[in-house]
Amino acid sequence: MLPIIAIDGPAGAGKSTVTKLVAARLGLLFLDTGAMYRAIAWLVLEANLALDQEQKIAELVSQAKIVLTGTQVVVNGIDVTGLIRSPAVTSKVSEIAALGVVRVELVKQQQAIGAQGGIVAEGRDMCSYVFPDAQVKIFLTASVQERARRRQMDLVDGRQGEFSLEQLEKSIADRDLIDSTREISPLKKADDAVEIISDNLTIDEVVDRIVRMYQQAIATAHL
Ligand code: DC
Repeated sequence: MLPIIAIDGPAGAGKSTVTKLVAARLGLLFLDTGAMYRAIAWLVLEANLALDQEQKIAELVSQAKIVLTGTQVVVNGIDVTGLIRSPAVTSKVSEIAALGVVRVELVKQQQAIGAQGGIVAEGRDMCSYVFPDAQVKIFLTASVQERARRRQMDLVDGRQGEFSLEQLEKSIADRDLIDSTREISPLKKADDAVEIISDNLTIDEVVDRIVRMYQQAIATAHL
């Protein structure tokens, strides 16, 4: 099987940017599992379902057809690439991603996509749960303050309005808390994952480090 790189970490640590660049450098497929949870959150909001309507949500997830092509996300034939980054989806997604019915189905789909290897997968439970045999495992993180600062710069670029650093720090800390204290597959560094704290690293430095780890893993596998 072709190698898999698994990257976990909290919101705003730079996972998406780094994962895309690593995938491009190594010619691997980019699997953004957060986008899959966001697509389901978007469907749940569109259908006006409450979180306790588990049976309805389970049906919705099992019937959802999510297609990821590069960075484009299509669900049930609708291009939701931009829609899944809205503040409404962002504020609901952690709670929806904590539901067992949602996780079971999406993990199945993620493992099917990764079955042949040759992917860089990013999320919260890639190293510990979805791809425990991945050749390279990374926990990419940064301080809450640094992540809020980066998110603020993204929002200014994306013209989503002005948010204060305090508001962003609180929203990031809230999501961290939900993601890391949920019952099923909480966000947590896997014992065998290498932690990279990106506060004082450039994107290129992080990408280089992961590419080197991958090359080392391949070289060792062929010894
Ligand atoms: O990485 P992101 O911000 O797009 O992720 C959106 C949400 O989905 C986030 O609150 C955590 C959740 N998620 C998850 O629970 N498991 C994953 N493998 C990926 C994301």
